[in-house]
Amino acid sequence: MPEEDLQEAAELVANAKYLIALTGAGVSKESNVPTFRGEDGLWRNYNAMELATPAAFANDPKLVWEWYIWRQGLIAECEPNPGHLTLAKWEETGLLKSLITQNVDGLHRRAGSSNVLEVHGNLWALKCLSCDYHGRLSAPAEGIPECPDCDSMLRPNVVWFGESLDSEVMARVYAELEKATVCLVIGTSGVVQPAAMFPIMVKQRGGTIIEFNVEESRLTRSVDYHIQGPSGETLPALDSLI
Ligand code: OAD
Repeated sequence: MPEEDLQEAAELVANAKYLIALTGAGVSKESNVPTFRGEDGLWRNYNAMELATPAAFANDPKLVWEWYIWRQGLIAECEPNPGHLTLAKWEETGLLKSLITQNVDGLHRRAGSSNVLEVHGNLWALKCLSCDYHGRLSAPAEGIPECPDCDSMLRPNVVWFGESLDSEVMARVYAELEKATVCLVIGTSGVVQPAAMFPIMVKQRGGTIIEFNVEESRLTRSVDYHIQGPSGETLPALDSLI
């Protein structure tokens, strides 16, 4: 990564009128949370795209819960990394106005970020298949959780393929995209919609996109700066130039 790119990106970030960030699984990679499409994306030879669907859950809720329990166990042992902590610092100093994440691991909040929009939900959140009960796990589930109100099966309150995103969260996301002048895109392959469109919407309004990734993504051809490297290193490196 040319040093001048990082310096220029640092100036854009420091002087941004309204800075937002979009993150994906890559921002948690250095916290040992597997990404979805990388070489570590498989579980028992299934990939997420086969398990994170309403059909997979209807067909074999036990298997899908085993996958989520495995991920909950893994994530319970993980800690936020310097990339998460840098984003939390930028929120604290008022530089970062909002953080839109595709991740369900909850690591941004554990790092101290509070203005977090979890567009794909949260791995620890639960909802009932039959009534409007919503709950939250504080530790990995032990078997398939049941609704305390109606005894039905509970499911993870995450967005599965083919499901719509929460309308209230999306209204807040679009309001942020309207105001953004600089959008950081961190650790996402840019293949899942509508999140992959968010940075493009900022750019279409004249905003600037700065990507942090270890390799090119589907978004790279649209970004203004591509800062190559692990975000746990590149975000603190940029912070040190501000
Ligand atoms: P992916 O696994 O598709 O992409 C992860 C991205 O992170 C890739 O572009 C990697 O190159 C990059 N990456 C890996 N290590 C990195 C590091 N240390 N620093 C920076 N970047 C790194 O994950 P997402 O793009 O988040 O959706 O996937 C989007 C959605 O697809 C997920 O939210 C999930 C999945 O199915 C649902 O579950 C609905």
